[in-house]
Amino acid sequence: MRIAIFGAGAIGCYVGGRLAHAGADVVLIGRPRMGDALAQGLHLTDYRGADLHLPPLPFATGPEAVKDATLVLICVKSQDSAQAAAQLSTHLPPAAILVSFQNGIGNAAALSQALGRPVVPGMVGFNVAWMGGGHFHQGTQGDLHIEESPRLNEALFARAGLPLHVHDDMQPVMWGKLMLNLNNAINALSGLPLKDQLGQRDYRRCLAAAQEEYLDLCRVADQPLARLSPLPAAWLPGVLRLPDRLFALLARQMLAIDPKARSSMADDLTLGRKPEIDAINGEVARLAKRLGRSAPVNQRLMALVEEASHSEPRRTWSGRELLQTLQSA
Ligand SMILES: NC(=O)c1ccc[n+]([C@@H]2O[C@H](COP(=O)([O-])OP(=O)(O)OC[C@H]3O[C@@H](n4cnc5c(N)ncnc54)[C@H](OP(=O)(O)O)[C@@H]3O)[C@@H](O)[C@H]2O)c1
Repeated sequence: MRIAIFGAGAIGCYVGGRLAHAGADVVLIGRPRMGDALAQGLHLTDYRGADLHLPPLPFATGPEAVKDATLVLICVKSQDSAQAAAQLSTHLPPAAILVSFQNGIGNAAALSQALGRPVVPGMVGFNVAWMGGGHFHQGTQGDLHIEESPRLNEALFARAGLPLHVHDDMQPVMWGKLMLNLNNAINALSGLPLKDQLGQRDYRRCLAAAQEEYLDLCRVADQPLARLSPLPAAWLPGVLRLPDRLFALLARQMLAIDPKARSSMADDLTLGRKPEIDAINGEVARLAKRLGRSAPVNQRLMALVEEASHSEPRRTWSGRELLQTLQSA
């Protein structure tokens, strides 16, 4: 199996590296600066203490490198999907399986439409942070989820320590993940690691408000949400609003996050990249519009992240300040 990773960033390098460590033939396709960063090889660590060192993997900066692939994992941010499809279209081998491991709801369908062939929807249920150089760190537990696709080599993923959870229908999984991803914007605006941010009740109240708005819209739209955390989705806002001590006691698993972990949207703001906000909070705003309703909390979060991505120096928000601005939305 020759695997091409299109979009060598946090997820692409981590998943590609673990598959290579399990014996797969992997090529990473990414930007020249990532090629330079990986020149000394990959260092993959996780919250359980795994510590893997790999020699440099084949690295390419152009889409031609997919030409012999039997499996292509698309790991670019949602806003880069259209360009990825345009670049890949003339180079993809006809028999290759394509998988989108991206957040948001519509990437696999959009890629599939642009490429005129099936793209299997996938979802990454854990956090990976780029620690600099070739070091990528999985900071939370979680698995890979994927739509049933008979030709996928599930045993390889299991050997890599990334077992695939196979679903008949990925839509409830993607919508369920979107609800958890509503914290990405709050984490990015806080400027804090995830564990510190989620440890503070005011930030959790912000998340609860964004999630409640979302749950309400999903109820109206009859959109089922897969259960991706120990608690049912509908209970999350109530638990998030608990005082810190009670929350720490009841939601132990939610705080079982490596102190280094942060959302990739936080990295986007730090590194001056376009944040993946439209595919997340923007999806909530679009759902509201389709239903003839509004989503003021998610729209305000979207505006704040967009503003932060254009301002220098970047403002960070305390939990209290953010809560006040969301309550007035
Ligand atoms: N990181 C996480 O913890 C996590 C967890 C679950 C799901 N996800 C999802 O996984 C997806 C990838 O996230 P990520 O955190 O891995 O993003 P990332 O670190 O930004 O990685 C994407 C990489 O792809 C590169 N790229 C974009 N277009 C390209 C092109 N046409 N050719 C070559 N390289 C290209 C980007 O370069 P530029 O920056 O220069 O564009 C970037 O280096 C997102 O949808 C994200 O929401 C992430």
